[in-house]
Amino acid sequence: MSKSYDAKTPRWEAIKGGTFFLLLGIFLLAATPLSSVAGESASSKKPLEKSFPNSEKCKRCHLRVFEEWEASAQSRSIVTAPFRVTLDQFLASTDEKDHAMCFRCHAPHILEYGDHLSRFIKEVQSKDPQMDGVGCPQCHLIQDVDMKSHPPIPTFQLGTTIFGGYDKAAQNLAHQSQKLDLYRESKFCVTCHDSLPKTSSSAKDLPGWLGSWEKTKAESSGKPCQTCHMPEAIDESANGEKVRKVANHSFPGRFGKVRAEAVTLDFTTEATAATSQVQVSIQSLVPHNLPLPHPGWSRVVVDLSIFGKNLKRVYNEQRFYERIFGNAEGKESVFDFEAKNVLHDTLLKPEEMRIEVFTFPTPQDAPSMDVVVTLTYAPVHGPQDFLDKVEQGAALGKKDKAFQSVQIAQKKMNVPLKK
Ligand code: HEC
Ligand code: HEC
Ligand code: HEC
Ligand code: HEC
Ligand code: HEC
Repeated sequence: MSKSYDAKTPRWEAIKGGTFFLLLGIFLLAATPLSSVAGESASSKKPLEKSFPNSEKCKRCHLRVFEEWEASAQSRSIVTAPFRVTLDQFLASTDEKDHAMCFRCHAPHILEYGDHLSRFIKEVQSKDPQMDGVGCPQCHLIQDVDMKSHPPIPTFQLGTTIFGGYDKAAQNLAHQSQKLDLYRESKFCVTCHDSLPKTSSSAKDLPGWLGSWEKTKAESSGKPCQTCHMPEAIDESANGEKVRKVANHSFPGRFGKVRAEAVTLDFTTEATAATSQVQVSIQSLVPHNLPLPHPGWSRVVVDLSIFGKNLKRVYNEQRFYERIFGNAEGKESVFDFEAKNVLHDTLLKPEEMRIEVFTFPTPQDAPSMDVVVTLTYAPVHGPQDFLDKVEQGAALGKKDKAFQSVQIAQKKMNVPLKK
């Protein structure tokens, strides 16, 4: 079902703030009783930018939320160089017919405007898209999520009603508000964080990204995704509105505060004259796989470094937590859209405790050694021509976020060595 509002009163534009416009808004509101917006047939579909107005339209009343969202990864979902380059690669794959697939989550209004696909693609290729990918209406017009399909599919209700988590939202002149429990539930997020939809060329049964999130301690103790990724604060929900519980919209994940709560990292050491051993325990506190295996190059690195005399690094070993996909030729591929199967999977499972044992030669003629264990998100990796394209496509070149390692946790210890 799809509601729409009167074409003569494009209400998102109607209220510009300031007394004059406020009065104008009241006039428009009075002239168009809210009940009259309901019940129009879905066939009289509005232009895309009327149904999914740009997030800028919400900014004037929701400045805090807008600024948080603007800093988030979700606001860049069709802007980054890695996305643009992998989208090109996906579109170029000859046996693929379902060219809208990537937009299903990176710009989900494609689900309502499938006939605009060439415009979506052009916007991405322009490097400076005017439309949002995951903007305010792309989330706040979601009325339901069908968990029976994989990935779960959202349904939008296009109209003047904005959905959210508030029971009694204050009235305002731009939109009606309606509370849906969905906005405090994991399934709202899972619709875009679950798995790639099957396409004409993809494999049949690849495992989901999150792992068994439904069976975790967090989920069963009433902590949905929002608890950690939209942490609660007390602030104004709309400019000038009374302060109340609000939800952070910067979606901390790989970047941001939530990282400090990702793992507990610990280790013990045992040194003999010839060999030493470090036993590392990594307890994931995350109720889903870490890292999440989309895009296909995602990996977390466990790095062991041993420093001997004069703090010189005498030993280094790295292990990866990642999902390695196999393509049609049976070769490893960092492009999950061409995956036919999983060759190897070392992701940290939800809330898993992992033990890593490292053995190495004991540093000689040093009174002690420094043991340093570090967990980081690795930078983008893959075929050289792909990395070159990402570098050329990024405004900051090699300084783009995609090329940065991000530290998750580190532990250091000085271990005395017997003569
Ligand atoms: C309409 C689809 C959609 C919905 C719904 C959605 N997300 Fe996302 N989310 C994305 C996309 C796409 C990205 C990646 C953006 C990029 O970097 O290109 C993303 C990125 C993120 C990130 C940042 C990831 C990182 O690497 O740091 C977090 C955290 C996140 N989402 C959490 C959530 C939570 C929590 C919810 C539910 C309240 C949610 N998302 C709902 C599509 C969605
Ligand atoms: C089911 C929803 C979904 C689909 C379909 C999807 N993505 Fe994503 N994508 C996400 C989410 C969610 C993230 C953030 C992942 C994270 O950080 O854990 C993301 C992150 C990315 C990233 C890394 C962040 C960035 O923007 O640089 C790239 C690149 C990317 N996706 C490319 C693609 C391409 C290309 C396709 C189509 C072949 C695609 N995605 C299809 C949901 C999706
Ligand atoms: C990825 C999906 C997503 C995006 C994008 C998003 N929101 Fe939200 N928003 C939510 C969810 C989920 C909640 C409820 C969170 C809760 O109650 O724990 C929420 C809550 C809110 C609230 C009430 C709580 C608060 O923090 O003030 C407002 C207002 C709001 N959003 C406005 C916006 C605006 C404006 C934008 C764009 C700048 C936006 N949202 C973008 C998912 C999203
Ligand atoms: C004319 C100002 C104005 C504009 C423009 C506006 N809002 Fe609001 N919005 C409000 C006010 C006021 C509230 C009530 C806040 C409260 O009750 O604390 C609200 C409430 C909300 C809520 C909470 C609803 C609920 O029931 O949980 C969401 C979500 C929201 N707005 C999203 C948006 C989005 C998305 C846009 C842009 C498409 C937008 N708003 C544009 C003023 C505005
Ligand atoms: C108990 C807190 C918690 C809950 C609940 C939670 N997460 Fe996370 N999530 C984390 C932590 C911690 C990280 C790791 C951040 C880091 O190490 O940088 C993370 C990372 C992420 C990332 C980005 C990192 C990556 O590896 O790509 C995304 C996207 C994400 N979570 C989505 C979700 C979704 C969707 C849900 C709900 C099904 C969810 N999270 C539930 C704590 C949580």
